[in-house]
Amino acid sequence: APRVFSGIQPSGGLTLGNYLGAMKRFVDMQEDGGYQTIYCMVDLHAITVWQDPAKLTRATRELCAGFIAAGIDPEKSILFNQSQVPEHTQLGWIFNCVARMGWMKRMTQFKDKAGKNAENASLGLFGYPALMAADILAYHATHVPVGEDQKQHLELTRDIAAKFNHDYSVDFFPLTEPVIEGAATRVMSLRDGSRKMSKSDPSDMSRINMTDDADAIASKIRKARTDPEPLPGDAKGLEGRAEARNLVNIYAALSDQSVDQVMAEFGGQPFSVFKPRLADLAVDKLSPISAEMARLMEDPAQIDAILHRGSERAREIAAPVLKRTYEIVGMVR
Ligand code: TYM
Repeated sequence: APRVFSGIQPSGGLTLGNYLGAMKRFVDMQEDGGYQTIYCMVDLHAITVWQDPAKLTRATRELCAGFIAAGIDPEKSILFNQSQVPEHTQLGWIFNCVARMGWMKRMTQFKDKAGKNAENASLGLFGYPALMAADILAYHATHVPVGEDQKQHLELTRDIAAKFNHDYSVDFFPLTEPVIEGAATRVMSLRDGSRKMSKSDPSDMSRINMTDDADAIASKIRKARTDPEPLPGDAKGLEGRAEARNLVNIYAALSDQSVDQVMAEFGGQPFSVFKPRLADLAVDKLSPISAEMARLMEDPAQIDAILHRGSERAREIAAPVLKRTYEIVGMVR
């Protein structure tokens, strides 16, 4: 079966962007039945910027609880954390030697995260995309569901696979397909329609956290920035209206409808009508998930056991791939 791999960083809480752009679609691919699905908490990626150790532990467990609460079944999918499968780092080193400095320097996420003082960024932050390529290629994954912001990293993964195959005259690593689909591949800030919704935005009003209660969700949507016009008559009219489009996209993704279907229902309506409906929908869909996350967090030992078992299953796939890679490269075993 074609293999799906994707990862989420346990760096702070989960946002609605992570849920709609990634996690909800991970569940769809699991339920599709046509794929083997592998999902990873990328703790080694998280520490490319400083993480408080106790918070990292908690965020990793909470992320795992989020996966399960959102519908990932640890029997149907392989659910694990990256640092328990050493093959990621081992293959990552090989890819550090395949990837070129110039490729890494072009990565917009590095430029954004390193900021003005790139000399002070960790070496791990610079090499981040090579480890990401290792995550994917250690499983010979063919499909990688992600949000729009990961597109460049996935192109780099293909470049690394192609260069490895070329340099060693093999046809070993597959060229991975990014799966960037649906209405919510780029959920925007509720305060600024030109910026991505992000866990690192200083304003909590800019995002919906998966742990927000019903009041917080409703008040954030009520206060979400919009222009004063009512919604346009159809989807075309959303062009140039980033904030309106974002709220419509969120509605479409949460309700499993197309943007056209949402516009057929709400076209021409003022935000005073649309926002309360969106708030009700968001509370309906998100409250059960946050309640289940809280329940799962009461038993951290069970979460750790799930991650440990998932890591064993992951290693069964990744270890032979690494072994073959070492043979191709000429390492004496
Ligand atoms: P991370 O942890 O930043 O985000 C996890 C996933 O959530 C998506 N996402 C969004 N989608 C829509 N709108 C948003 N506002 C939004 N914010 C985040 C991201 O696109 C991502 O799919 N580098 C990755 C983690 C990673 C990975 C991998 C992914 C490591 N190895 C291998 C795929 C395959 C990252 O930082 O995701």
